[in-house]
Amino acid sequence: MPRFFLTTAIDYVNSRPHLGTAYEKITADVIARFARMRGLDTLFVMGNDEHSQNVFRKAREMGLDPVAYCDRMEDEFRGVWRALDISFDDFVRTTEARHRVAVERIVQRMYEAGDVYEGAYEGWYCVSCEAFKQEKDLVEGLCPVHRTRPEWIREKNYFFRLSKYTQPLRDHFAAHPEFLQPDVRRNEILRLLEGGLEDISISRAGQAWGIALPFDPQSVVYVWVDALINYITAVGYGQDEERFRTWWPADLHVIGKDITRFHCVIWPAMLMSAGEALPRQVYGHGWVHFRGEKMSKSLGTAVEPLDAVGKFGPDPLRLFLVKEIPYGGDGDFSWERFEERYNADLANNLGNLVSRVAAMVDRYRGGRLQARGGGALAGLAASARAQALDAMTRFALHEAVAAAYAVIGATNEFIAQAEPWVLAKSPDKASHLDEVLYEAAEATRIASALLWPVMPDSVAEILRRLGHPFDPRAPRFDDTQWIASGERHVIKAEALWPRLDTTGATPVPVRTSVTDPSTPVPEFVPGPAPTPASAEQATPPAIPAADAAAAPATPAPAPAAAEPQAPTSVPADDRLGIDEFMRLDLRVARVLEAERVPKSKKLVKMRIDVGSEERTIVAGIAEAYEPEALVGRTIAIVANLKPAKLMGIESNGMVLAASPEGGKPELLSFVDPPAPGTRIR
Ligand code: MSP
Repeated sequence: MPRFFLTTAIDYVNSRPHLGTAYEKITADVIARFARMRGLDTLFVMGNDEHSQNVFRKAREMGLDPVAYCDRMEDEFRGVWRALDISFDDFVRTTEARHRVAVERIVQRMYEAGDVYEGAYEGWYCVSCEAFKQEKDLVEGLCPVHRTRPEWIREKNYFFRLSKYTQPLRDHFAAHPEFLQPDVRRNEILRLLEGGLEDISISRAGQAWGIALPFDPQSVVYVWVDALINYITAVGYGQDEERFRTWWPADLHVIGKDITRFHCVIWPAMLMSAGEALPRQVYGHGWVHFRGEKMSKSLGTAVEPLDAVGKFGPDPLRLFLVKEIPYGGDGDFSWERFEERYNADLANNLGNLVSRVAAMVDRYRGGRLQARGGGALAGLAASARAQALDAMTRFALHEAVAAAYAVIGATNEFIAQAEPWVLAKSPDKASHLDEVLYEAAEATRIASALLWPVMPDSVAEILRRLGHPFDPRAPRFDDTQWIASGERHVIKAEALWPRLDTTGATPVPVRTSVTDPSTPVPEFVPGPAPTPASAEQATPPAIPAADAAAAPATPAPAPAAAEPQAPTSVPADDRLGIDEFMRLDLRVARVLEAERVPKSKKLVKMRIDVGSEERTIVAGIAEAYEPEALVGRTIAIVANLKPAKLMGIESNGMVLAASPEGGKPELLSFVDPPAPGTRIR
């Protein structure tokens, strides 16, 4: 079986993991799980970096022996990783005996190769970076990363002839363009190599916290050199030759963008010196910020990952980070955005789809379906599968998720168009209903299985409900093909992700009785639309609310058009200038919920997703559309109208529909529905 060995950076343990360090482990976990899904014999290694001076100082501050402190922190880190469902296979601590053996062995090899010599270092050292700094690295005398004054140190050090490896490294980069990805990081290192490398200090004198040099026990190995070696410790270097030869070189080191120089210059040069193969690839991901700020404990901008997990379980957080941040770039986290995406991607989209499909199969077919070939959705699912595979091989994790979501969106749309609730009323449409239900169920199963590496626990539950005919806890990539034979047993159950009321502080789902299985999330029908505190003083309605039945098919004419314009701005020939037209914010939206407005013949109240937010909109289309048929449908709206009250309900925007003279309104629709929020012009 082909093997895949991947690692993450090992974390300093002077503080608990935060969302930034967790991001790295989550994304590496997605890569590891995808590798397992493809049948690769996968070894996924993480660990803790314990020999840093900050760790030593922290332990002392707490009155603890440093090893005892590190033991405690190991529990804390493992606890967080468990809560985030990180499936690592091994965890290396740099204070472990197996690691000391590996460090001594490789440092001795480098020494024997004539690449280590004694010298004296005098200069700056930033303890927080654990890095020697040159004057040119400082900004106004401070470390630019930590904004602290580095320490001036003068001590006997052993140096590594890094300069000797300048050309071999250039050659390696030229022969292996894939070695460091994404390209933006690779270019940074190529520029560094162009300038030539200087020898580096690889030991510290006068410290007891660290691993002693085998050839001079008075000095300890510099913490970065110590830490990098963890990658070979994990596979038995210096202890288990067979295991080492089986697994080394690593296929992938996943690290943050700030530490590429250590991994792509120093580490490969150390391996070259010791005569070992280089890792095949290094991926330098971007940083997660909190509301645009660097995550930092002292600034109060470090997000505690367990806060999100406690409320929602690990999967919504994992999805948010992987879906919203293009892998390789920087991203931003805020609670508002997280909850917004939770509602949009999970409650309203995937969760709603699973509930609708299961409820309809339950109601119309007693939970049983006969598998069969599919139509358009089968083609879309096959191409999503191919796209996801291609994206994952390029580490475009966000694209793989988007491919699965394209199928989810299309399946929701398919249900709205096929109207199974109408088919169910005609016995002669029974066979067509069978086809529609299976097509929707199978497309949902495939899209969900593609999301398994990102949301392992929730997807296992979805697969169980949809009668996935293999182990739902460990789906294989092969299982994401369309299955055209056999019987399927679909189970209707609780809503997976009840929608959050984001207008209030506490997210409490409102549950009422089930009326029709074709309505979204049958077990969960939201209560009255949240009314902003200011709604009572909302702008007066543009049309009188008193006689809503007389309302036109599309309520609330655009105030922009209704309000008298200053004469100078009215073009002489009465046509609009492009600037005027562009003031209209026309958007694609998706209907999440729909219900008739009581006591009105014409009005339907809808909850819609406009991409960046959800809102309530009221439209005079009840004579033309059943509310059930509207749910999941993609519509066009004018998004920037002032709110108008219709039958006491605040409508935020106007639905676009063709309104033939004397006929019923017909909603604008799309052949290939774009994502909610897409601008129409
Ligand atoms: N101990 C070193 C790594 C040694 S690897 C041989 C170290 N530790 S760290 O705790 O500071 O960072 C661990 C990892 O988390 C690094 O890859 C770092 O880039 C990453 N991140 C730290 N903060 C981060 C964000 N805010 N966002 C994303 N990743 C971040 O460096």
